[in-house]
Amino acid sequence: MQRSFVLAVLAAGGAGAAIHARWVGPYRLQRRVVSVPFPRLPPAFDGFRVLHLSDLHYIPGNRWLERRLAELALQTQADPPDVIALTGDFVEWDEDAGACAALLATLRARHGSFAVLGNHDYGNAFDPEEVPRHRLLHRLGDLVGDPLSRFNGRPPKQEGNRIEAIISALDHAGIQVLRDRAVPIGVHGQRLWIAGVDEPHQRRQCMARAYDGVPVEEPLLLLAHSPDVLEGDFAFSPGLLLAGHTHGGQIRLPLLRPWVTHTRVRLPNYRGLVRTSHGLMHISAGIGATVPLRFRCPPEVTTLVLHPAEAVKVPHEADRWNRTSPPVDATDSLIPPALAVRGRPGVHPSDHGALAPRAGGAAPPPFLR
Ligand SMILES: [Fe+2]
Repeated sequence: MQRSFVLAVLAAGGAGAAIHARWVGPYRLQRRVVSVPFPRLPPAFDGFRVLHLSDLHYIPGNRWLERRLAELALQTQADPPDVIALTGDFVEWDEDAGACAALLATLRARHGSFAVLGNHDYGNAFDPEEVPRHRLLHRLGDLVGDPLSRFNGRPPKQEGNRIEAIISALDHAGIQVLRDRAVPIGVHGQRLWIAGVDEPHQRRQCMARAYDGVPVEEPLLLLAHSPDVLEGDFAFSPGLLLAGHTHGGQIRLPLLRPWVTHTRVRLPNYRGLVRTSHGLMHISAGIGATVPLRFRCPPEVTTLVLHPAEAVKVPHEADRWNRTSPPVDATDSLIPPALAVRGRPGVHPSDHGALAPRAGGAAPPPFLR
């Protein structure tokens, strides 16, 4: 009697967790503001705000994501961050890039938006490492009568995505795609460099090109889609690394490490501020996902506030998250809920330099294991 009662409670708990992971967890957006110590940050950049967004995995008809981005657009129009950093996985299919970029074009930042490409932008469904996982998800989806993978319903593209179409769409939206290159941002005669590498999970990046022209003594913010960038040859450690790709693990059971992080690099944690061999890295848990399951790992939009390293204590939250991974770190604060904005015009993308569409470009290398 007692045993059957315990089993019933466990089964009910498991069913509740599964329901939460499928229908609640993916839709509870967390907005965080995190102070980040940045080595050698010039005084003009003290308080510089970077809005970090990652892993949209946008598919037209995703009303939840469209609404969240519309709210975010209103917030950035009312109070623009200095820079918006987008760390890849915009779409699953290249034909959706225009609609995705149109949503992102409504976001505003004082010095513009910068992006790197993710493995899904290149067409992750045909990454040899991913094919077995997607097959399994399709079978599970058929079993429970619910498409667990957002790849369902589209014919496969053996050749992968047309990456130039995605880059062109982002360019038209005024978003600078940093594909192994760096650009400086000037404030009161001082400079901060923003560099981006091509997709590192599929080993497409060229660190030397990304670092080309960046003086070692000047501050550098390095964008990469995946923590796999840590395998690369760094000319020197950046002041801060930004990445996405892991989705924070998506399913985070108490006391256990996240099961799926999709990175070859072993880290103390797979979301938030993480100490690495090349300084602090902020890993976004992302706002979307291919597989809409999240448990104790909410989607997030994060504002990183940079301060000279000597001006703020090295945060302990990285270590704390490693142990317990609370949904909101105690040192973070939540951005107020959607700001009501009336009658204040936003900054048009052309204000920060809409770019001409990129023609041609290097063909993507084959998938590498
Ligand atoms: Fe992703």
